[in-house]
Amino acid sequence: MTETAPAPANDTGHKMSAKNVNVFYGSTQAIRDVSIDIDMDHVTAFIGPSGCGKSTFLRTLNRMNDTVASARVEGDIRLDGEDIYSPSMDVVQLRARVGMVFQKPNPFPKSIYENVAYGPRIHGLAASKADMDGIVERSLKRAGLWEEVKDRLSDSGTALSGGQQQRLCIARAIAVDPEVILMDEPCSALDPIATAKIEELIHELRGRYAIVIVTHNMQQAARVSQRTAFFHLGTLVEYGVTDDIFTNPRQERTKDYITGRYG
Ligand SMILES: Nc1ncnc2c1ncn2[C@@H]1O[C@H](COP(=O)(O)OP(=O)(O)OP(=O)(O)O)[C@@H](O)[C@H]1O
Ligand SMILES: [Mg+2]
Repeated sequence: MTETAPAPANDTGHKMSAKNVNVFYGSTQAIRDVSIDIDMDHVTAFIGPSGCGKSTFLRTLNRMNDTVASARVEGDIRLDGEDIYSPSMDVVQLRARVGMVFQKPNPFPKSIYENVAYGPRIHGLAASKADMDGIVERSLKRAGLWEEVKDRLSDSGTALSGGQQQRLCIARAIAVDPEVILMDEPCSALDPIATAKIEELIHELRGRYAIVIVTHNMQQAARVSQRTAFFHLGTLVEYGVTDDIFTNPRQERTKDYITGRYG
């Protein structure tokens, strides 16, 4: 969309906007009436005890729950004002616009180059080999991996270290020019040095994408995010500016969690 294009009629002014979202697995409700807005230029952290629904809610944002047979999503979720659950929504296209990075790095068993080129190829983003080379290089540079892999692009992605694999997965998500990047505990399988690199990367990527990160690490949430959402038992208990959530939570349950009283 060009800068002069008019906003869609039902544009909420937010990059993504979820209203009254409920998620069920069979008859068990995992998410209860969650409403939240996600904005550009922000990193939004989802925190909360294990099993509270962070991953479930994150997956509603690019319809990854569609792949879980028992899952049912109710409510309204919009991307630039467009209903992502509408029958006319192209889900493959949606998942390119709202990319995802998982807890365990999951590169394809293909070359480093192919890992990054795969998405742009299926979406027809490169007109020539030179174009594709450019996309691969740019994505790897943005993911902070280029210098480490530029001389071994034909090596297997699975031969990289865990931290490098995770940056490769970020490069793969970036390659299709997403608008939103969802990250579900992207550092939990990484050592502190690899974690610091990813955090630095998230910081650099913030200006270009809306980023949502699930983390169990309170320090990480405080370091990388500008907005924090605290989930408990499937509900969104509190959502606000990260500094406020950590220094002056309004809800007792939030305070108990961030001070380590449970979790
Ligand atoms: N595929 C599934 N089928 C049935 N129930 C599920 C499924 N995935 C998650 N659940 C249930 O939904 C609830 C929320 O799980 P979810 O994985 O979203 O929590 P989480 O906050 O991401 O937890 P964690 O911090 O441990 O990753 C839990 O009660 C969980 O058992
Ligand atoms: Mg989870």
